Amino acid sequence: MQRIGVLTSGGDSPGMNAAIRAVVRKAIYHGREIIGIKHGFAGFIEADMSPMNLGSVADIIHRGGTILHTARSEEFTTPEGRAKAYENVRRFGLQGLVIIGGDGSFRGGLQFYREYNIPVVCVPGTIDNDIPGTDYSIGFDTAVNNVVDAINKIRDTATSHERTFIIEVMGRRSGYIALAAGLAGGAETIMIPEHPTSIDEICRKLNRGYRRGKLHSIIIVAEGAASGLEVGAKIKEKTGFDTKVTILGHLQRGGTPTAYDRILASRMGAKAVEMLINGEKCKMVGIVSGEIVSVDLETVTAGKKELDMDMYHLAGILSI
Ligand code: F6P
Repeated sequence: MQRIGVLTSGGDSPGMNAAIRAVVRKAIYHGREIIGIKHGFAGFIEADMSPMNLGSVADIIHRGGTILHTARSEEFTTPEGRAKAYENVRRFGLQGLVIIGGDGSFRGGLQFYREYNIPVVCVPGTIDNDIPGTDYSIGFDTAVNNVVDAINKIRDTATSHERTFIIEVMGRRSGYIALAAGLAGGAETIMIPEHPTSIDEICRKLNRGYRRGKLHSIIIVAEGAASGLEVGAKIKEKTGFDTKVTILGHLQRGGTPTAYDRILASRMGAKAVEMLINGEKCKMVGIVSGEIVSVDLETVTAGKKELDMDMYHLAGILSI
């Protein structure tokens, strides 16, 4: 394993740069060469690739986004697209691949490994934290902190105006961001796809609070559970409360990564290189109970990450 390729794919996540830095520097530490592939699988197909050195990753550990850029490539989902990428594996003499991204990117990596037998190690980089086999993915902690920061600010104005605020957060089909940020931000209600909550139920809770003199509320809605705008309109219609909706959108994905994400990314990126050098193939790096582990990629792509329902119930108890 002399030459390793690295790419970031799918939605960017804060900490991806720290992961790239770790991959590049750990590979060089072990005397290996590293090729950076730009724009994810799209750049792999187009040969948008070049060697990286220690200086290529200088001054990036604190930066959000990814210096390698990213994309969601339709072409790589086709056998023709993957054949073009394999041409570039040969042309650039790659003997292993590190893929930093989410579940869609991992499925692409798995398919590529099956067809061309090129060793692949995936690193979970997605704010959604929806990857099985790992407690955390890179970027989740930063995204949650971004949301909590927004909740704090919105709470100031919600209290002043005695309003009900609905905050829609990302997460695709997962409620992890909503749950973690809702618990940390003291939200009164958290709507997640894993445990549907009816509008009537929310209105009953709001009315109960109102009778006790609670005149403002924060409701966190995971995008996979409902549309924040619709939730706001329905609550207003049923209760007559002054509702305001904020859709946080892509600001959740930006900004300087937290120390937790930088450390996680550094550990995972370094482990990915170690795994390739040790001859591992078709694996993902994970973190389980604080330990960095190697997980079978087939199991990861076939599985579904379960939400921590104890945490969900705790948030409910504490928000009474
Ligand atoms: O997977 C990360 C994520 O930010 C999801 O939470 C969100 O649904 C999606 O990507 C948005 O994708 P895009 O940036 O392509 O609009």
